[in-house]
Amino acid sequence: MKKNKISKDWINKQRKDIYVRRSKIEGYRSRAVYKLEEIEKKFKIFRNGISVIDLGAAPGGWSQYLSKNIKNAKILSIDLMEMEKIKNTFQIKGDFTESDSKKQIKDYFGGRVDIVLSDMAANTTGNKNMDSLVTGELCMEAMDFAKEILKIDGKFVSKIFMGSLFNDILLKAKKNFKKVNIYKPPASRKNSKESFIICKFLS
Ligand SMILES: C[S@@+](CC[C@H](N)C(=O)[O-])C[C@H]1O[C@@H](n2cnc3c(N)ncnc32)[C@H](O)[C@@H]1O
Repeated sequence: MKKNKISKDWINKQRKDIYVRRSKIEGYRSRAVYKLEEIEKKFKIFRNGISVIDLGAAPGGWSQYLSKNIKNAKILSIDLMEMEKIKNTFQIKGDFTESDSKKQIKDYFGGRVDIVLSDMAANTTGNKNMDSLVTGELCMEAMDFAKEILKIDGKFVSKIFMGSLFNDILLKAKKNFKKVNIYKPPASRKNSKESFIICKFLS
């Protein structure tokens, strides 16, 4: 299929997408916010006063949601991309996998945190298997970091792709956490292999 045709299809799909329309009306920067909202509805992970890390935060929908809906939260957002400022969040532009970024995050909190979220995804290369593998690796690394920095009753939520590393991720999650669920929120496009892993309580 020609590139022009693909982008026209993408624009048409966006126009028809109710989540895109809602995000514009409600002032959110991305439709991704509704995935987090649906995860919250089902798993009740947030409460006022918590500390939260948002990995792969740009353009900022998840962080906007946290900033709007959680009172007295301490929020840190990191992404490779520059992000417009979001109220009540500390933002880092950088690669989460670099040790300097991890140090900055640890220094900012100066102790353990309540929640680690990751919506990190590899930049799409056109090779779906490769993209899913790299995103799986990002999830594994986020989980290792979560294990280091979470409080004992902490929660870890991450994007995953059903595919290559899924079984390894699930196994690792079950080793590290007492409660593990896999959930595809309705806002996650049906034709994508995207899903989310929701982990509670370190083992
Ligand atoms: C699907 S988007 C996140 C959308 C976001 N949750 C929202 O609500 O707007 C995935 C993001 O992961 C980021 N990302 C990928 N690898 C990363 C890394 N190593 N460190 C930090 N961010 C990364 C990308 O730059 C991209 O902005």
